[in-house]
Amino acid sequence: MKENSFILKGNICYAGTKDRLAIAEGGYLVCVQGRSCGVFPVLPEKYRGLPVTDYQSCLIIPGLVDLHTHGPQYPFRGLGMDLELLEWLETHTFPEESRYEELAYARRAYGMFAEDLKASATTRAVVFGTIHVPASILLMELLEAAGIKAFVGKVNMDQNCTEQLREQDAEKALADTRQWLADTMGSFQNVRPILTPRFAPTCSGPLLEGLGELQREYGLPVQSHLSENLSEIDWVKELFPWSGCYGEVYEHYGLFGGEALTVMAHCVHSTEPEVELLRQKGVYVAHCPQSNINLSSGIAPIRRYLDKGIRVGLGTDLAGGAAMSMFRCMADAIGASKLYWRLVDQDSRPLTMEEAFYLATKGGGAFFGQVGSFEEGYELDALVLDDTGIRTTRALGTRERLERYIYLAEEGGRLAGKYVAGQEIFRQNICG
Ligand code: GUN
Ligand code: FE
Repeated sequence: MKENSFILKGNICYAGTKDRLAIAEGGYLVCVQGRSCGVFPVLPEKYRGLPVTDYQSCLIIPGLVDLHTHGPQYPFRGLGMDLELLEWLETHTFPEESRYEELAYARRAYGMFAEDLKASATTRAVVFGTIHVPASILLMELLEAAGIKAFVGKVNMDQNCTEQLREQDAEKALADTRQWLADTMGSFQNVRPILTPRFAPTCSGPLLEGLGELQREYGLPVQSHLSENLSEIDWVKELFPWSGCYGEVYEHYGLFGGEALTVMAHCVHSTEPEVELLRQKGVYVAHCPQSNINLSSGIAPIRRYLDKGIRVGLGTDLAGGAAMSMFRCMADAIGASKLYWRLVDQDSRPLTMEEAFYLATKGGGAFFGQVGSFEEGYELDALVLDDTGIRTTRALGTRERLERYIYLAEEGGRLAGKYVAGQEIFRQNICG
C-alpha cells in the first residue's frame, strides 16, 4: 500500500468557491500520496484497493489555516486585554517575549503551544517567534514533531523597544538571522523559515534594507504587521516621513509582495493607496478579528478587500486574540463584518458563513500552495468533526451542522481525526 494513501468516508464539506460550499453526504475523499484525488459519491473502481476509514455521520472538512499567530505569547493569552496595541506591547508582550532568551523557559512554553496546536483544528500556521535564535529553532522543532505545517519567523527588532528584547544593531540582527536561516532552511519536512520584521516602528532602515537583501538572496517569504492601530500608523509616519503610506515602508525595502510571498496582519486602517498596493503586490491580508476587538484596534473592511480581489485569510493573533480556535476566529470574522456593515459602511455586506469558512481554509491555505480544499491535486489536510455533543432536538442538514460547529465548537464539538498533507496526526473512535 502506498504511503499516505487512503480514503475517508463521511459527510464531506469544503469551500467550492468563495461563497458556495461543496457538500457530499456519505462521500468518499480519496487521498493518494498526501494529495486529494477528489470527492466521490460512489468509490471509483481504481481506488478500491485503498484502506477506507468510515467516519459515518461525522463531518469531514479541510484543515484550518491560522495565517497569523505568535507562539511566545501563548502563556498570557486571555490576560491584559484592557490596553491598546502600543501600551499592550510594552506592558504585556515585550516582558513575556524577553523570557525566551532562556531556553528552558522556551521549552516549557513552546511545549504547551505545540501540544495544544496539535490537538486543535489548526493544520497550518504562520507563526512569529521571538528575536532569540535558539528558542526560535526549538519552536520549529516542536511544530515539526507535532506534524503541523508552519512558517516560523525569528523576529527582527532593533529599535523602539525594551533593551532585553532589542537586537544590538542591524548588523548583529542580520548576522543572527543568517545563522538561523543556515540552521533551519531545508532542515524540516513541515516547517520553513519566514522573514519577520516585527513591524516598521521597531525596525531601523538598515535592518529593513538587510532583510530585503536576504529576501532576494534566498527567495524567502515575509510576514509582518500593517495598519493595525491609529497611534501605530501616526508613529510610522513620524519614523518614515518619506512614506506615502505604512505599507510603502515595507515595499521600499522589497518586503511587500511581488516576488516575495508576503502576509501582513490586520490592515484595519489601510488607506486607499495602501489597499491598492496590497492588491497590486499580491500581499496576503491576515484578518484577526478577535485581536482587533481585544486591542480596540477597529474593524478591518474585509468585504472591500474581497471585492477588490485581495488575498485574505484568517489569523488568531495570539495573544492579541485570546483563543487558539480557528472556529472561534471564523465566528468573530462574521460578527465583526456585521458591525462594520451596521456602523461603518452600509454597502459592505456582512460575511456569510460560507465566506468565513472559505477564508479559514482555501483563503489562508493558498499561502501554502494548493491547500485548503478537497479538489483534485490539493494537499490533503482534513479534520473529522464529531458534533454529537452539541445537542439539539433538531434534525440538521450538513450545512447547518457545519454552521453550528463553527459557532459552538467549544461547547461539545470534538475532533475525531486530523490529517496534514495525508499524514494522520490523530484519530479517535468517537463518531456515531
Ligand atoms: N505589532 C507589533 N507587534 C505586535 C504583536 O505582537 N501583536 C500585535 N497584535 N501587533 C503587533
Ligand atoms: Fe500579531
